Amino acid sequence: MLTIDAYRAAFIKYLEQRVVTKEPQSLYEPITYILKLGGKRLRPVLTLLTAEIFETDYNEALNAALAVEVFHNFSLVHDDIMDDAPLRRGKQTVHEKWDLNTGILSGDAMLIQAYQLFESYDDNIFRGLAQIFSKTALEVCEGQQYDVDFELRNDVTEAEYLKMIEYKTAVLVGAAMKMGALVANASKEDSEKIYEFGRLLGIAFQLQDDYLDAFGNPETFGKQVGGDIIENKKTYLYLKAMKHATKEEQQQLVQLFNNEVEVTVAEKVAYVKQVFETSNAAQLTKEAIKNYTQKALDILNELSIDSSKKKVLIDFSESLMGRTV
Ligand code: IPE
Ligand code: IPE
Ligand code: MG
Ligand code: MG
Ligand code: MG
Repeated sequence: MLTIDAYRAAFIKYLEQRVVTKEPQSLYEPITYILKLGGKRLRPVLTLLTAEIFETDYNEALNAALAVEVFHNFSLVHDDIMDDAPLRRGKQTVHEKWDLNTGILSGDAMLIQAYQLFESYDDNIFRGLAQIFSKTALEVCEGQQYDVDFELRNDVTEAEYLKMIEYKTAVLVGAAMKMGALVANASKEDSEKIYEFGRLLGIAFQLQDDYLDAFGNPETFGKQVGGDIIENKKTYLYLKAMKHATKEEQQQLVQLFNNEVEVTVAEKVAYVKQVFETSNAAQLTKEAIKNYTQKALDILNELSIDSSKKKVLIDFSESLMGRTV
């Protein structure tokens, strides 16, 4: 086993080699741009790590890992269009730097490239990878649709929210790990367990994404702080505030999230963040992040891997809770 940083470095080296700008440049340049813009590389690192946990050289999992990262970046290009986001990883989003059509088509091409990367695997593994990938990609679409539908709803429940983030985010984290397990020919039982671990970690990850969207440091966060508030996203913070804020604050939130009040965007963000804090929604979100991380770690007890490998997963999961981007 290598360290997390070593897997990340190996992955980035492979990505640098494999991602090249072909003709027409107007199609491929945005793909190179977004893929080389950085990011935490969480999902591909988990794919490589999982292959090694199940006793297989990470090099065998590089194409699967790249497929996951290309798919993730495709989803970000389209997500930034849907969320009207100006910034990604501290730089302009693809549709801002180029235009909407470029974002759509370059994104489409990335989805296909992701599938293409499975072609290097033998029939059995290829089929397994394609299966989990197709299922996951469709679920991500479903999650994204719920996310957008919820912008216009005032009656979203916590259960609906949790299902939405499970689909838009968590299943891909689970799938990234399961793909590592598939490449390593792990047992069906272990593959399912590691998927479940990733899924729960992915829920914690999205809860924290929501938290940082409101409370991240604008200097270092890399995305537009307050973007979810501006877009009327029904995040965990919002749902908890709607439960615990005063009646007046709740009314104010509903009006603001239906764009019924004449305020500037900055005023809206500042007021909503204040209610998120005073209502304890911020604190409750932090607790939920901890709880879901712990739920993920509990799964490790059921896995038949030795304790040094479990420790890598525990340390990594805990370090994610301290992330600021
Ligand atoms: C952002 O994902 C989208 C979510 C699912 C929360 P990441 O936070 O992993 O983004 P990068 O790849 O590190 O930039
Ligand atoms: C993104 O959710 C989920 C997918 C891209 C599928 P968000 O919209 O919260 O992600 P960010 O915050 O823009 O990275
Ligand atoms: Mg977004
Ligand atoms: Mg979104
Ligand atoms: Mg977000």
